[in-house]
Amino acid sequence: MGIEIDTSSPAGVQAALAALAWQIDCGVTEFIGDDPVNSYDLPERAPWAAKPAAAPGAVAPPAARPAPTPVAEFTPRITPEQRQQQAADEGVAAAKAAARAATDLDALRAALAGFEHCELKQGAKSLVFSDGQPGARVLVLGEAPGRDEDLHGKPFVGAAGQLLDRMFAAIGLSRDSADLQSALYITNVMPWRPPGNRDPSPEEIAMMRPFVERHIELARPQVIVLMGNTPCSALLGAKGILRLRGTWTTALDRPVMPMTHPAYLLRNPAAKREAWADLLAIRERLTP
Ligand code: URA
Repeated sequence: MGIEIDTSSPAGVQAALAALAWQIDCGVTEFIGDDPVNSYDLPERAPWAAKPAAAPGAVAPPAARPAPTPVAEFTPRITPEQRQQQAADEGVAAAKAAARAATDLDALRAALAGFEHCELKQGAKSLVFSDGQPGARVLVLGEAPGRDEDLHGKPFVGAAGQLLDRMFAAIGLSRDSADLQSALYITNVMPWRPPGNRDPSPEEIAMMRPFVERHIELARPQVIVLMGNTPCSALLGAKGILRLRGTWTTALDRPVMPMTHPAYLLRNPAAKREAWADLLAIRERLTP
């Protein structure tokens, strides 16, 4: 039941109009009467909507409300999680397009330098692209730059990097070798240092994956070595380096050897024995 307002006086009309305006402000869009109305039977224009002839002494009707601004398109509301997912999807699509367009390693480095979808870039000093010789038979894929790498703009230059150099020197390979037979090429899944050396998130890895794949295609290694969990996630879609290490698998049509990361070996020297076995397996796999 509605509230009845006596509209026989100017004050009553004002009160009725005020009540109507208040309901419109509240979002009321429909009037529901006590009796059902068949809208198909209504005349083109409701009689009460026709402009009445101004009677002498009648109260002036209120000024017409301005027509609402037409909304061009209905934009559904999205949650913060959906917005985040949308940004991540856009980042992956942009990464695929940029990586595909790069026809050599210099172009790929430039594409990464201009890539704005990964937030890690904002907090990093350097883009850490690679070191060693493109075309080397072995490509080492690490996780992400740490503090030293971010400062120098080169992968694996800190304590873990020095151990990595000694490990590969033991099977006759070096990033400094000009001879492709004995050279090494080194890069990371993430080209920017994650804050506080945290692990890269699955979304960040997925965004960089198109660049990593193109990087490997352009560097054309015979064999890929995955150092730790992040590169295993990126190329194999699998985690658990202690289970994966030491067994050859395939990614991007190339033989792949997962190994424990040199930083892990620094903390767990007993694991060096298995790492040595993995290095010997790599040496054996290389065709002259
Ligand atoms: N650890 C990595 O995985 N990559 C680097 O470049 C340095 C440390």
